[in-house]
Amino acid sequence: MNETVRTECFDETPTRVVSGSGALASSRACLAGMGIAKALIVCGESVAGLPHLAEFISLCEGCVELHVFSGAQPDPTDENVLAGGAMGRETGAQAVIGIGGGSSMDCAKAVAAEVGREGWISAQDRPGEPTQIDHEALPIMCAPTTAGTGSEVNPFSVITFTGTERKLVLNHEALYPRCAVLDPTLLTTAPEPVRIAAGLDALTHAVESYVSKRANEGTRKWAAQTIRGVAKYLPRAAGDAQDMQAQAGMQRAAMVASLAFAQTRLGIVHAMALPLSALFGVPHGVANAVLLPHGMRYNLQADLGAFAEMAELLGVDVEGLSADEAAAQAPAAVEALAAEVGAPRTMGEVGVQADAIERMADDAMQSAHVQVNPREMSREDVIAVYQAAM
Ligand SMILES: [Fe+2]
Repeated sequence: MNETVRTECFDETPTRVVSGSGALASSRACLAGMGIAKALIVCGESVAGLPHLAEFISLCEGCVELHVFSGAQPDPTDENVLAGGAMGRETGAQAVIGIGGGSSMDCAKAVAAEVGREGWISAQDRPGEPTQIDHEALPIMCAPTTAGTGSEVNPFSVITFTGTERKLVLNHEALYPRCAVLDPTLLTTAPEPVRIAAGLDALTHAVESYVSKRANEGTRKWAAQTIRGVAKYLPRAAGDAQDMQAQAGMQRAAMVASLAFAQTRLGIVHAMALPLSALFGVPHGVANAVLLPHGMRYNLQADLGAFAEMAELLGVDVEGLSADEAAAQAPAAVEALAAEVGAPRTMGEVGVQADAIERMADDAMQSAHVQVNPREMSREDVIAVYQAAM
């Protein structure tokens, strides 16, 4: 095994985390340890063409038979999951390996459940109802190529149901990956706008988790680590794909945010971001990026102290400021970071039409994140925040 690769376990997740340059190659041992002889790789088209993937497949030759399902779309759909599940059954897969951004990993997790029961995914289009998996799901391994969702260590899978245009969060312990492979060399494959959007998604996870009604000392420790890490590494990681220290820093920041938000859930920004993706195809991280400062301003009064702490974590000198003033620096610092890395700033800029706001507000209010947001939210409040972000 490569000596730069290390393995860690955390109290917050059953997923074993293997990290460092060369982690993907060394993950053969993880598969062998699970007794896997055949596995299905789930990825998108761009990852399917990467030399990293071809190298991994050839490394596994004679040890694990790998087949590639490259039909995981950005914001994966129930149709993607059905197709991946069918391929998994045809090829006799005993495990599913998600390689890619959050979309590919989420698709892989759902495929792992779909392989065991044809049509399972179609029965999950039930907003507000718990995800049901009462059959054997395949073990999952995830290797992120973006530093954003932290899907590699959590039990969530976000799937868009094409029939109803609903984007729902599946959540079940069978969807926890057994093994997460954090290889920073994989992050160099993502284009700059993807690195930026993913990084701001990770930041949104940390900010929302930090003030969630379910936040505790342990979750705030992880969220704080993420906020500091994103402020430090995102400008470097966005601007220079080959800055491996920054890529590894972002990979870590995204992963630990997930340890926090898997317990706390998220809040107003994620509730409101889902309809932007479902109705207008706005990438998840971009949707969060345009909504985050506005969602933070809406929540400020619920916990001025926490927002003041976040301002400090983002690098603002808050000494001498009143609680109100210090807290208000947090959304301003997020806006400054977004401007520095060149992220989109308004919903209009990313193709959202104002006449959809009422429909989007109805959908946002269905999200489970509403219940943990630190400030009560009404449909009218959500409409006002959408209008501010327009
Ligand atoms: Fe997210």
